[in-house]
Amino acid sequence: MANQDDQFKKVIAHAKEYGYIFQSSEIYDGLSAVYDYGQNGAELKKNIREYWWKAMVQLHDNIVGIDAAIFMHPTTWKASGHVDAFNDPLIDNKDSKKRYRADVLVEDYVAKIEAKIDKEVAKAEKRFGDSFDKIQFLATNPRVLGYQEQCDTILKRLGKSLEKEDLADVKALIEELGIADPETGSKNWTDVKQFNLMFGTKLGATADTAMDLYLRPETAQGIFVNFLNVQKTGRMKIPFGIAQTGKAFRNEIVARQFIFRQREFEQMEMQFFVRPGEQKEWYEKWKETRIKWHKSLGLGEDLYRFHDHEKLAHYADMAADIEFKFPFGFKELEGIHSRTDFDLGNHEKFSNKKLQYFDPELNKSYVPYVIETSIGLDRMFLAVLSTALVEEALENGSTRTVLKIPAVLAPTKAAVLPLVKKDGLPEVAQKIVDDLKWDYNVTYDEKDAVGRRYRRQDAVGTPFCITVDHQTLEDNTVTIRHRDTMEQRRVAIDDLSSMIKKEVDIKTWLLKSL
Ligand code: GAP
Repeated sequence: MANQDDQFKKVIAHAKEYGYIFQSSEIYDGLSAVYDYGQNGAELKKNIREYWWKAMVQLHDNIVGIDAAIFMHPTTWKASGHVDAFNDPLIDNKDSKKRYRADVLVEDYVAKIEAKIDKEVAKAEKRFGDSFDKIQFLATNPRVLGYQEQCDTILKRLGKSLEKEDLADVKALIEELGIADPETGSKNWTDVKQFNLMFGTKLGATADTAMDLYLRPETAQGIFVNFLNVQKTGRMKIPFGIAQTGKAFRNEIVARQFIFRQREFEQMEMQFFVRPGEQKEWYEKWKETRIKWHKSLGLGEDLYRFHDHEKLAHYADMAADIEFKFPFGFKELEGIHSRTDFDLGNHEKFSNKKLQYFDPELNKSYVPYVIETSIGLDRMFLAVLSTALVEEALENGSTRTVLKIPAVLAPTKAAVLPLVKKDGLPEVAQKIVDDLKWDYNVTYDEKDAVGRRYRRQDAVGTPFCITVDHQTLEDNTVTIRHRDTMEQRRVAIDDLSSMIKKEVDIKTWLLKSL
């Protein structure tokens, strides 16, 4: 645990030191759970967004993208169920006066039991060496089976109580498990209460004419209310999808863990409209498609797992999370939800407008069912950043800090470095920058010894360093150094662009997801 905390602290410090993430309004001591993205963070975020958009919109003939407004008519949120049901179960500790999400307290308790399972596995792995069969061990070891049963029982009961809105039982569960305030150890809890997460605001100049609005808590509703506009103008045929990326806002009460849980964040969502009755098939298909997208980035196959929901959101008939192993454990990165005809059906009721599709093959109209894929851009950013940050021991006994961000996502693809600041080398280096910058984000750096400049680029995650030296003046070649292997090769300046393209091209990476 201490190691995980240390690693997470390092990620946060590194993100600030290298211009990735700053606290919002830091000069006024910041605003809790709100963050700004710096010069490198903005590039990484843009690259993640493009990686998603390319895969989800441009590579699918039957998916289109939109950009709906953040403000929506307030009835939207009545129809979507957010006014009545977008609540978190909260509990206060009477001694510390700290507020927690009751379900998260229980889930964290379960995570501790799961950590015990991991420990047993690690111990057995050490004992049995190469002959260790993890699957068999998990299925037969009595201690592991006991822990697993404990986890399942607790989560099942939590899911049931939340579904039935039985908040007294959630409190009873917390007390039975002896869960204490994680910060103070006190077990003196209040009752569990529901708390709505939407931010309210007003539209209009005067108090009496102003209209109460909400900042959207998800981008999905902008898609639902435009379903017919897009279907008709795009002549879309079911099955088809509508995607968008954009800001969402939630008044998160327990907003810890850096950019993992923020009050203002960005979502990348896609609603896929299907025939009623075909949702199961499409749900499975989108689960598979999305996990392949994640794995194409090569962060590590074992960093992902599916978690099927016991407690379904008010709109879903099937739902699963893709969980990622963050420095603080496995947590939700993306949700895949089968939303039935809940949203379109309710918008029909509340707006009195038909939101149906005439299916020429079936010769009838119906309200389509929807499979949704919904990923938080900021969470994806944290997944990439926290996995990328490594400290490596070098052969000469020193260490280096490297951000091994997948090259396709790296904010800057190459740094061009003149070996010395004289003899015409800076001019040649600048010319290379001027040439490459049409294709990629590149940077020029002439300050300090070249070894220090390499370290700086390693720490910021630049996949390539191109060094211009005196030989360059004679034969138009440079050295190109690879961030991860630190290997250097001599190449012709004319070949640089195609060499870098091979490694950073979105096509090369996304082909792995197909
Ligand atoms: N339209 C469905 C929906 O919004 P959700 O599970 O509430 O579903 C989807 O959110 C994704 O949005 C999550 O998987 C997570 O990645 C991201 N997300 C949700 N709340 C967040 C927050 N407070 N801060 C950062 N990301 C968040």
